[in-house]
Amino acid sequence: MQEPRHQYGLSARILHWLTVVMLLLTVPIGFAMTYRGSDLKIWDATTNTLYSSHKLLGFLILLIVVARLINNRISGTPPDEPGMKKIFKLAAHSTHHILCLLLLLVPVTGWVAISMLPALNIFGLFSLPAITSPDQKLSRLIFDYHAYLAYALLAVIAAHIAGALFHQFVLRDGIIRRMWPSRSSS
Ligand code: HEM
Ligand code: HEM
Repeated sequence: MQEPRHQYGLSARILHWLTVVMLLLTVPIGFAMTYRGSDLKIWDATTNTLYSSHKLLGFLILLIVVARLINNRISGTPPDEPGMKKIFKLAAHSTHHILCLLLLLVPVTGWVAISMLPALNIFGLFSLPAITSPDQKLSRLIFDYHAYLAYALLAVIAAHIAGALFHQFVLRDGIIRRMWPSRSSS
């Protein structure tokens, strides 16, 4: 398997894998809390802790994604691997753009919805700043958008991971090393 010629910078790689870890926590917590709260109607300390954790982690993901976009702007991203087919370049670039857009839209809709409810408190310790005035009726609709956009994000992530695995095991071009946490030997 060949080594890729370029690698993302250390900060870009850290922010990429940090986002992955945060999503691995945020998404299951999102499903668990709505199952306990909305479906089972259990509104106890556990449910509240799950909601607070989800809101806080989701908000941190928003900050990380903004940091990542600024970092990409300042440091730039590595050029595409030479010899990569145009169709694969197009697929990869469009997937990355859609991922970044959804990683902004999902937390922002969550934040707007809890501002409208309002339910901004985290662990009874502090509150996130409100970004809209209260409107309980509209908050329900925005929560629905939040859920649909989160499902869309999961679908695009699945396509992104399938693409990375396709490069690794079918094309065997070693492209995963471009984003691997450790330094590439080339
Ligand atoms: C990338 C970040 C985020 C992801 C991937 C995400 C994902 C999800 C998912 C999968 C659900 C369950 C949807 C359902 O099946 O009903 C959910 C619900 C929810 N999320 Fe997020 N979320 C994120 C960020 C946020 C943020 C930043 C907030 C608020 C600050 C937030 C607040 C909520 C709330 C309150 C619900 C419950 C909605 C309801 O009762 O229908 N989320 N989220
Ligand atoms: C789970 C959530 C994931 C998200 C949200 C995500 C998001 C992204 C984004 C937005 C980029 C574009 C680079 C940038 O703008 O910084 C990227 C690049 C990349 N990701 Fe992920 N990723 C995820 C998981 C994974 C996984 C599990 C793998 C490996 C199996 C992976 C491998 C890569 C590789 C190799 C690149 C560089 C592609 C290139 O430009 O050649 N990603 N990812």
